[in-house]
Amino acid sequence: MLIDKKDTNSFVEIKPKILYYGTPILLLNTLNEDGTTNISPISSSWALGDCIVLGIGLGGKAIENLERHKECVLNLPSPNLWENVEKISSLTGKENIPPLKKAIGFTYKKEKYEAAELTPLNSKSVLPTRIKECPIQIEAVVKNIRIPNYSSFAIVETQVLHFHAEESIVQNENYIDPSKWSPLIYNFRHYFELGRELGKTFRSET
Ligand SMILES: Cc1cc2nc3c(=O)[nH]c(=O)nc-3n(C[C@H](O)[C@H](O)[C@H](O)COP(=O)(O)O)c2cc1C
Repeated sequence: MLIDKKDTNSFVEIKPKILYYGTPILLLNTLNEDGTTNISPISSSWALGDCIVLGIGLGGKAIENLERHKECVLNLPSPNLWENVEKISSLTGKENIPPLKKAIGFTYKKEKYEAAELTPLNSKSVLPTRIKECPIQIEAVVKNIRIPNYSSFAIVETQVLHFHAEESIVQNENYIDPSKWSPLIYNFRHYFELGRELGKTFRSET
């Protein structure tokens, strides 16, 4: 096959300072020592079957909480909640802030619900609370935590226990209507929503 030299010349190799290529934001709720709930914005996740895998930095409160108490709630905010997410983006629930986090400008705040102006709801079978304003709230249990020896983050494997969805985005009982739901996307550290629908795959059931 002939390679078009002009085409290859239109690419440049870069060393990206930021590698967040557009994934949904989750508000990860974990249990503090005193039974209150901590909220951590994260964007590193993938889902397959009933398993959701999270990438969580070692310097924060979320991983500390998950190592002690293996339950969480994954709350999915819609785009209209981006400013609520941003209100807690420079806060950590960790009282002893690691120097690197401190240098970036993080401050300690335990009352994340108050800071984010969000409302707690009791969960069905886990102790961390759910966030009322998030249209999707997923109760999950931690099955495994792996810390690769090359990294400063943990790979946390969770299994879904209960999936709560706001009635208005549900169709045919057990499906999410993709035309009614948009995740909040973290696109190279900017907040985005989905654009118009382009089509669907042959396996779509809606
Ligand atoms: C939109 C957004 C996405 C983020 N994604 C991640 C992520 O995927 N993993 C992670 O460890 N931190 C992520 N962070 C940073 C954490 O929110 C930050 O470390 C915070 O301290 C976590 O709170 P905690 O220390 O109370 O757990 C993200 C922050 C924002 C605002």
